[in-house]
Parts: sequence; C-alpha cells; structure tokens
Amino acid sequence: SRVVKLAVIPGDGIGPEVVAEAVKVLDAVTAASDVSFEKTPFSLGAGRFLETGDTLTDDDLAAIAAHDAILLGAVGGVPGDPRLKDANIERGLLLKLRFELDHYVNLRPSKLYPGATGPLAEPGEIDFVVVREGTEGPYVGNGGSIRRGTAHEVANETSVNTAYGVERVVRYAFALAERRRQKLTLVHKTNVLVHAGGMWKRIVDAVASEFPGVAVDYLHVDAATIFLVTNPSRFDVIVTDNLFGDILTDLAGAVTGGIGLAASGNINPDGAFPSMFEPVHGSAPDIAGSQKADPTAAILSVALLLDHLGLTDEAARVTRAVEDDIASRDGVRTTAQIGDAIAERVQA
Ligand code: NAD
Ligand code: IPM
Ligand code: MN
Repeated sequence: SRVVKLAVIPGDGIGPEVVAEAVKVLDAVTAASDVSFEKTPFSLGAGRFLETGDTLTDDDLAAIAAHDAILLGAVGGVPGDPRLKDANIERGLLLKLRFELDHYVNLRPSKLYPGATGPLAEPGEIDFVVVREGTEGPYVGNGGSIRRGTAHEVANETSVNTAYGVERVVRYAFALAERRRQKLTLVHKTNVLVHAGGMWKRIVDAVASEFPGVAVDYLHVDAATIFLVTNPSRFDVIVTDNLFGDILTDLAGAVTGGIGLAASGNINPDGAFPSMFEPVHGSAPDIAGSQKADPTAAILSVALLLDHLGLTDEAARVTRAVEDDIASRDGVRTTAQIGDAIAERVQA
C-alpha cells in the first residue's frame, strides 16, 4: 500500500480551523483505500515568529522539501500588530516556499457550483482556471527605496520576467486548455507594461503554434475584470503574471460564491519539489477563532492535492461531496459542521 508523506502547515488565524476540516476529509476519503497519508505538522507563521523569532529556517525548508506534498492553511498575523513590524511572514514564509520549491504554476480553478450564491444576477456557466505564474513578476522582491520616510523618498519594486519562466508556465497553460475547452486567454497590460507584456505576448504566440487546436485570446487586465463580472463564461484557461493572477483570483472567488470556496495548488509540474495546496484566501483575522470560516476552499485544495498525486478517484469523491454539500446548503453552520458534513458524504 502506498504511503504519502504530507507536510501540514496550519498557519495563523482561520488557517488551523480550515486545515482541521481539510484533514478530516482527507482522512475520511482515504479511510477505506490502500493509500495512507503520513502527516507531519509544521508550526509556522506569525504565531511561530512571535514565539521564536523564526519565519522559515533552512532546517524547516529542508524538512518540508522531504515530503511528497504540502497542505497549507493561511499565514499572516493581525494587521497592525506592532510585534510583527519587522516580520514579513508573507514574503519570508509563503513566497519563500513557492520560490524555493519552484512552484511556477499557481493553479486556481473557478467554478460556480449549483446552489452556490454569488453576487451576479445571471452568472451563466462559470468554469475556468487561472494559471498564475508563481515564481516571478513583481513578487521577486527585487526592489528598494532611498530617502525613506522623507518627502523625496523613491520606492522601486521591479517586476522580473524571464523568457524561461514565462515559457514554461505558458506551455503548461496551453496543455491544460487542450485537455479542457481549448481556449486560452492571456491577461496582461501590454499597452503600458510594454517590455514584460510584449515578451509574454510573443511567447504565447510562439507556443500557440504547437497547440493549433487551442484558440488564443488576449485581454488587458482592466478589461479582464469587466468580463469576469459581465461574461465569465467566456473564459476557459487564463494565463497571467503573478500579481495580475493574485488580483483576478480573489475576484473570481467572489463571483463564484465567495472566497471561502476558492482552492489553489502551487505546482512544481516537474516533480523536483513537493507541490503545495492551499485556499486562495488568507488568515482572515476578522473572523479567526469564531468558527465562522468556510473550510470548503481548504477541502477543495485537498481535492487538487489528491488529483496531483494521481489519486483521481479520491479527488473526484471529495469534489462530489463538496458539490452535494453546496447544493444542499441552507442556514448558517460552523466551520466544523461543514467539515463534518462533507467528511460524512465522502464516506457514504
Ligand atoms: P483574507 O482572505 O484573509 O480575508 C478577506 C475577507 O474574506 C475577510 O473579510 C475574511 O473574513 C473573508 N474570508 C477569508 N476566508 C474566508 C473563509 N474561509 N470563509 C469565510 N470568509 C472568509 O484577506 P486579507 O484580510 O487581505 O488578509 C489577511 C491576512 O492573510 C494578511 O496577513 C494577508 O497577508 C494574509 N494572506 C495569506 C494568504 C496565504 O497564506 N495563502 C493569502 C491571502 C492573504
Ligand atoms: C495569495 C496571497 C499571497 C499572494 C500573499 C499573502 C503573499 O494573497 O496566495 O493569493 O499574493 O500570493
Ligand atoms: Mn491573494
């Protein structure tokens, strides 16, 4: 029987609350199968920083990298906490993991499940995937400032885009579109960001010739936000840069029934490093500790994890259980009640 080594990082705020339910569902779906998950918890995040001053040590990173996959809740302390003034948990932990483990595909599916209530009056069918570049762009931390705190401060944040980095994520997006509805939309801002945008466009056009069955479309990111709201059915696979992908996927979460449903995978397709699965949302300090968080995003992230590991049957069972749960929702439930209901459906 197969043993999967899973690193679990519950994190901060609602992270531990939603991860508890995700693990509950993972245990339920694997209870009767011949695969078992050997879980190692890692105490990381703002809480760990406050206790020890560490964000992610080399030892932590090496230990995590020795696993087959990673499940993460969310990290980030309470905004304005003075004790976190010199910490940057997001950069030092989350982005460090994505960069060091070469998670160049940040996969963020958006689907409007029957019964989910979004803000759109007539949403139509919504079923698209954002392939967000995960290791480059404005996220690389290549910036700096001078004359800090003065009226003449200059602050720079450089977006780094390499042909190698863009091509590999674009190729992944095309291959995904080929398996789906054969439509790929590049989202960028080529009218203003001419250097990076121009390279993305040229690379998409070049790779397109290898995928003649895939129809290619381009939208500026501002216009893309319009269509995500007015005509989300037009999208199948969206490929975009790290920052645009971050923004678009919170919007995509909102139009498909709320950020509490939006799952993601930080994928290293080459398999050189473990991939990491996490909800799109953050640590939600405003509702932390109150059992108000929807754990569905974390549970659907487990489905992505199972799928990534080739456990497609288990993945489908989790997705179906979530679908059924969403279709039969009425009234307010706690985080644990939603997790219990989905875990029960998975075993049925
Ligand atoms: P957030 O996603 O944590 O919260 C935005 C809003 O969505 C809040 O009103 C919150 O209550 C709500 N929300 C989020 N998840 C929900 C859920 N599962 N169910 C119901 N409602 C939910 O975004 P933010 O407030 O901008 O960030 C809070 C902290 O989280 C910051 O420190 C930020 O850096 C961090 N963050 C971490 C991650 C991550 O670890 N992957 C992702 C995003 C933000
Ligand atoms: C996300 C988050 C992160 C990002 C932050 C917390 C670094 O917003 O996973 O969407 O911007 O990628
Ligand atoms: Mn985000």
